[in-house]
Amino acid sequence: MPSSVMPTPRKHDGHASPAAVSAVGLRKSFGDKTVLDGIDLYIPAGSVFALLGPNGAGKTTAVKILSTLVTADGGQAQVAGHDLATEPQAVRAAIGVTGQFSAVDGLITGEENMLLMADLHHLSRSEGRRVTAELLARFDLTDAAGKPASTYSGGMKRRLDIAMTLVGRPRIIFLDEPTTGLDPRSRHTMWQIIRELVTTGVTVLLTTQYLDEADELADRIAVLDNGTIAAEGTAEELKRLIPGGHVRLRFTDPAAYRDAATALPTATGDDDALTLHIPNDGSQHALRALLDRLDTAAVHADELTVHTPDLDDVFFALTGNDTRVPHQPTEALR
Ligand SMILES: Nc1ncnc2c1ncn2[C@@H]1O[C@H](COP(=O)(O)OP(=O)(O)OP(=O)(O)O)[C@@H](O)[C@H]1O
Ligand SMILES: [Mg+2]
Repeated sequence: MPSSVMPTPRKHDGHASPAAVSAVGLRKSFGDKTVLDGIDLYIPAGSVFALLGPNGAGKTTAVKILSTLVTADGGQAQVAGHDLATEPQAVRAAIGVTGQFSAVDGLITGEENMLLMADLHHLSRSEGRRVTAELLARFDLTDAAGKPASTYSGGMKRRLDIAMTLVGRPRIIFLDEPTTGLDPRSRHTMWQIIRELVTTGVTVLLTTQYLDEADELADRIAVLDNGTIAAEGTAEELKRLIPGGHVRLRFTDPAAYRDAATALPTATGDDDALTLHIPNDGSQHALRALLDRLDTAAVHADELTVHTPDLDDVFFALTGNDTRVPHQPTEALR
């Protein structure tokens, strides 16, 4: 059994699954700038964990610490059951890292990049060729294999980057912003690749600035802001942290707008835009009650939209400066 799926010797408080990554109180400063101010992470083996945060939040720093490229100033972490500080070699052997900025060498071909990785992992020549061919095919790069990587599109380079990461058959993969800069189709291809990785039992820690990406892929999400984890949980749990959904009604007739405002006591309105904002959880029952009230008042809205909170709302609520939700959820959600 690979070490990354073995139970960690020390159980993290109350967590049932073995940890692929567990970190407590990680701290890092550059000069007088505190980048990570004591973060805790717990990533069960075989899951996808998203570290979500705006530019400069410390995502890359966290990945670099966990992949032994940068030393933390404080705290401790185990990756694949190995202590970062005392067993960095064992950690390195268990992980694969696809950095935010490509590791692809543009001057050589895609295939040569792969073979170089196979050499670094001490694969025999024949094994290196076999793994290279298999991965190039898997990532739809066989046709481009003989061309210099500098001629690849952004999506192809990203796929090659991940293929290179997989040469060493890592059980834990760190992907730092795997889809930044990709077009929608390439993003979806990348998501598919990540989902397939997980079906093989690999653990993925990805960083992203995209809420939809975290929502789409991650079992759990931590929102990193200003060096601390502002919230952590499943997408659903995070969405529950912020004020509920609402229905927006738009009118073109000012009289209808006023009648609706009178009929709906919980509504708040924008008199200039002739729109009403009514707290509503978007359930069938709540929507029917709202529509019944409008029917009874005989008012007709020109447009009705139902807004259920999404991760965008969470992100702005947690990482905005003025509207910050009090720092409570991290423990509460675990
Ligand atoms: N080697 C370094 N020396 C000095 N400051 C650094 C260093 N590495 C990172 N920083 C600073 O730490 C902060 C966090 O950087 P980091 O790269 O971890 O953010 P990030 O969340 O990955 O951002 P992005 O979304 O832009 O990639 C930034 O303010 C950055 O300038
Ligand atoms: Mg980064």
